[in-house]
Amino acid sequence: MIAFYTEPYLLSTDPGHKMDVVWITDRPDGGYVRFGFDETLGSAVKAVCEEIFGIRAPATDGGYSDIKEENPPLTLYRCIAEIDGLEQGQRVYYRCECGGEITKTYDFHTAPKPGEPFKIAQMSDLQGINPCADTVYKIGCFEPDLILFSGDATFHPWRADQWFDIRHPSQTEEQKKLAFFPCMQQQNGAKLMQYCPTFLCVGNHESDDMRLVFDREYSSHGENWSWSVFMQLFSPLFPDKDYSLTGKRYYSADYSDLHITALSVQRCAGWGAYDYPGWRLTDPINEGSEQAKWLEEDLANSKARFKWVIMHWHLLNRGYDTQIKLGPPLIEDGKVADYPDDCTDYLMGVFEKYGVNGVSFGHSHVYERYLVNGVHYIEAAYLGYCYRRENEPLHPLGFSPEVEDNSQQSFLIISRDENGLTGRGYHAKDEPELFDEYRIADNGEG
Ligand SMILES: [Fe+2]
Repeated sequence: MIAFYTEPYLLSTDPGHKMDVVWITDRPDGGYVRFGFDETLGSAVKAVCEEIFGIRAPATDGGYSDIKEENPPLTLYRCIAEIDGLEQGQRVYYRCECGGEITKTYDFHTAPKPGEPFKIAQMSDLQGINPCADTVYKIGCFEPDLILFSGDATFHPWRADQWFDIRHPSQTEEQKKLAFFPCMQQQNGAKLMQYCPTFLCVGNHESDDMRLVFDREYSSHGENWSWSVFMQLFSPLFPDKDYSLTGKRYYSADYSDLHITALSVQRCAGWGAYDYPGWRLTDPINEGSEQAKWLEEDLANSKARFKWVIMHWHLLNRGYDTQIKLGPPLIEDGKVADYPDDCTDYLMGVFEKYGVNGVSFGHSHVYERYLVNGVHYIEAAYLGYCYRRENEPLHPLGFSPEVEDNSQQSFLIISRDENGLTGRGYHAKDEPELFDEYRIADNGEG
């Protein structure tokens, strides 16, 4: 039995006033979070625990079978303890108790009042690719106040060893270090998911079965689509228990004076993607689609000074894995035939119209930053491996990046300070090296 498959991690769509403390366990009897405003932890809240499904253990001591169904389901429970009634900028100490085991005492603070400083770490595309753990450690040493994660946490979300240290002989020490939670919960000077809320969006590797990404026939059947593992692990962000195509996989939240909108934009593209341009777009984001209507309403209703969008599929970059424009599919006889329209123009128009300051995506694992009509489009996703050669053509839209640097692993920290929002790109060296610094929004312009 493993009481804590993860250390506690923090999720919230109202981070100024409440925080969900979440952990994964194989103990069905749940547990408690003890918390308080100092380390005496004078209060307690019982966690609500629910069995989650879809995650599998290795088929044998030798490891996983490539055939998903040959690997046995792993019985796991997700515990959530909601700490509510908090005030903005309040420091909270907490620890979790489960199955007779107790975590160390961690702390977090709620989102501060508007105008107060905070620090964002932008990440995506870990997927256990070396040396992502080293890059994430360096990010953690900045002690971010919130994390934006633009999709692709693992490669196969059904594999337990890609999320956790599963204490199994087939999982090497290296694999344990690179699994999502061990990577994103590193300590020894880093402060990450135990200490600050993470806001994640859906990437193409968040769908339950990679046949949806690589198998054109399989993915053409709508009933094969599901996102159950990802949505269950991060359910406070994705409370809809409909894990199928009809479920809702986008949301928004206000962190202080920053409005965060997390979209679900991904393509299923067999890597002959130039031959079959993005042959399925999921979720649709073309004008008039459910998600697009929600997005416009969400942005129009926000009074926040700053607006930030995270989405996995890129609108602009020079990666070699699909630079084609983002369009909705035209379905003929159940098959995707063509991309007659263009979502890119539509989305960029929406972002401009509603004063979005920044849009950060992932997928190609590059560092590229564009500035188009006042909106910053940033992919800061080269934490492990980069899908770009040096002299790739410009994106078909023809925009040139303001800054591109794919010489080595890097990361992005965005600071809310007295001047507004400032972005800083760092090379992931032992002493992180600043290579890109820019004002994203001036105070008062947001
Ligand atoms: Fe991706």
